[in-house]
Amino acid sequence: MIDEKQARSGNSFIDENHTALLNTINSISQVSERDWNRGTFLYDVAGFIKDLENHHHHEETILKAAGYINLGTHSSKHREISMRTRDSSMGVDDFNSSMLFMDELRSMIFSHELLDDQDYWSLFDNQAEYKIKWSTSYETGNETIDKHHQCLLNYINRLDLRFGECHRNIEECQSLAIGELKLFYEYSKLHFKEEESTGSFHTVPGHQAQHDSLLIDLARLIVEIERGKFLPANLGDYLSYWLINHIQIFDIPSFANKK
Ligand SMILES: [Fe+2]
Ligand SMILES: [Fe+2]
Ligand SMILES: [Fe+2]
Ligand SMILES: [Fe+2]
Repeated sequence: MIDEKQARSGNSFIDENHTALLNTINSISQVSERDWNRGTFLYDVAGFIKDLENHHHHEETILKAAGYINLGTHSSKHREISMRTRDSSMGVDDFNSSMLFMDELRSMIFSHELLDDQDYWSLFDNQAEYKIKWSTSYETGNETIDKHHQCLLNYINRLDLRFGECHRNIEECQSLAIGELKLFYEYSKLHFKEEESTGSFHTVPGHQAQHDSLLIDLARLIVEIERGKFLPANLGDYLSYWLINHIQIFDIPSFANKK
């Protein structure tokens, strides 16, 4: 029987799918960097596309059952992602083009998860329970960047709720936290890349170095949790500080007057 808390985080199966996709992407990149071979690469990518399409199918089934009203648009985005992935994999003929392909794949997949998949969260989560509320004082004035920040903050809030509800044994909580933090790392990396590509980014010195340092800090945190040094329960507090402090010190001044 599904208990009330599990039901509330009803997209935990979807989260697990997202973690598995990330692991496959990482494993394809690692194998390619070790010993690149076109046949192996394309075989692994074909396997990934199959996993991705299965995931989209599961997601659509769950969303249909939950009565998601934007299902048609969301499903079209899924189809477009797998079509673009399949098409651009055909152009891979050497190591360099495979690395470009992997970069594009990461952006496409993580951008969909970070931005589009959030559209259905309200079906599963009671967002009124989120601890850290978005405030207009966090706005930079750049619409895309503000949307990214809100989505990242939603992720932190959800992580906070999930970790708070983690009644299973410590190993299970740790592995949940590690999977979630690895995804959060990818979404943050994608966001920083987007921010760094906008014209107003370089107006505050040290901004880029601060992004690099935040990612290093996050990677270190993942290793510490893997080693059992910290329990995930207080991570929400830490991550909200990690994000909001950066928005206030670097992002807002960078984008000021650039609306
Ligand atoms: Fe998804
Ligand atoms: Fe989706
Ligand atoms: Fe930034
Ligand atoms: Fe930012």
